[in-house]
Amino acid sequence: MGAGLDVARVRGLFPALADGFVHADGPAGSLVPESVAHAVGAAMRMPVAPRGGVFPASGRTEALVSGARTAVADLVGGVPAGVVLGPNMTTLTWTFARALARTWRAGDEIVLSRLDHDANIRPWLHLAEEAGVEVRWAEVDIETGELPSWQYDELLTRRTRLVALTAASNAIGTCPDVRAITARAHEVGALTFIDAAHAAPHLFLDQGELGADFLALSAYKWCGPHVGAISAHPQLLAQLQPDKLVPAPDRVPDRFEWGESAVELYAGIPAAVDHLADLCGTGDGARRDRLRLSMAAVAQYEGELFARLTAGLRSMPHVQVLGSPVRSTPTVSFTVPRMRPRQVAADLARHGVCAWDGDYYARELFDAIGVNDSGGAVRLGLLHYNTTEEVDRLLDAVAALDRPALSRPR
Ligand SMILES: Cc1ncc(COP(=O)(O)O)c(C=O)c1O
Repeated sequence: MGAGLDVARVRGLFPALADGFVHADGPAGSLVPESVAHAVGAAMRMPVAPRGGVFPASGRTEALVSGARTAVADLVGGVPAGVVLGPNMTTLTWTFARALARTWRAGDEIVLSRLDHDANIRPWLHLAEEAGVEVRWAEVDIETGELPSWQYDELLTRRTRLVALTAASNAIGTCPDVRAITARAHEVGALTFIDAAHAAPHLFLDQGELGADFLALSAYKWCGPHVGAISAHPQLLAQLQPDKLVPAPDRVPDRFEWGESAVELYAGIPAAVDHLADLCGTGDGARRDRLRLSMAAVAQYEGELFARLTAGLRSMPHVQVLGSPVRSTPTVSFTVPRMRPRQVAADLARHGVCAWDGDYYARELFDAIGVNDSGGAVRLGLLHYNTTEEVDRLLDAVAALDRPALSRPR
C-alpha cells in the first residue's frame, strides 16, 4: 500500500514510536524524527549568541534564522524574506490581527468561518469589536461537515477587509475550497488569512495557488519543533505596523518578531521540512520539487489508511461519525451515545491508543453541531507514520467500547 512511501523505513526514523502506542493524536501534535531532535540538540551544543553581533557565534544564529525562513518558504512556496517566525501560530495570529486591525475603520467588515480553530477566530473577533468592525460568519453544513463556498457570494461586500479561513478543519478534516473563496475575496479587495496549521502535514501547499495573503503554520504539526510561522509577501508585511520595541529592528520580517527567538528550535525547522521532502527516499533535486512528490505520496498513503478507518467506524452501530466531507485530511471525530468523550478516550488509552477528546479548540464548530454540552467528541487523526495494522488496532479498540466489561461472579 502507498506506492513511494516505505512506511517501515519511515517508522524507523521516529524513536518515540518505540512506546508501542497507536499515535492517532497527530492533529494535536505529531511525533518528531531523530533528525529534528538531533538538529535541535546540535544547535544547543554549538556557540550561538543573539543576532546582530560581529563575532562568529552571532553569525551562526543569523544562519539558523535564515535556514528556518528558507525551509518554511520551501514548504509553502513563499519567499524567505516574507516568513515571520514566532512561538506558535496563536501568538503570531494575535500579532497580525492587531497590526491589521490598525488599518480597519468603523463600518468595515470581516468574514470568519465556524469551521476554524479558535486561533483563527478569537483574535479577529476581539479586534473587530474594538475597531467597530462587523463580523460576518460562513456556516458549516452540520450534516456533511462542508463549508459551502457559495455563501461567500452573500458574505463578501466592498466593505470586506479580511477573510480568515482554515485550509483544513483540525476537528473533522474538511478541506474547504480555499482557492474559490480567496478568489472571491480578492475580487472585492479583501485580504485573506489562511490557517494551514492542520493542512500542512497532509497537503502540498502552494501559497500563491491558494490565494493566501497570509498563511499561518505550526511546525509541531509537521514533525518539527514548537515554533509558529506566518508567510506573506514582504511588500505586504512592509505596509503593516505591528507593536514593537523601539530599538528592535524595523525591517521586514523581523519587525513582527518580539525579543530573542528560540533559535535552537528554529534549527529543527529545516530538518522537519527535509524529513517531509525525503519521505519517498529521493534525496536529489530542489527541496520544493521533492516536497511536491513526497506530499503526493503522503496524500495517497494517508487517504488509503483513512478510507479503511472511516469505513470501519461507519459500520459500527454504536459510533456516530461527525460529518462526511468530500475533501478531507485523515482526521475524523465521533461520539458514542451514552458515553462521555473523556471516558471513550480513557478506554481507548487502555487499549494502547492516543486519542484526543473535547472540542480541540474547534469551539464554534462543535457548538454549531451541538456536541459541546456532552463533552465534545473523540478525534482520531492519521499521519504518514501510521500503518494499516494500527488502523485495525484502532478499529478493534473502538469496537470494544460496545462490549460490556466483564464482572466477577459473586
Ligand atoms: C488548525 C489549527 N490552527 C491553529 C492551531 C494553533 O496552533 P498553535 O498551538 O501553534 O498556536 C492549531 C493547534 O491545534 C490547529 O490545529
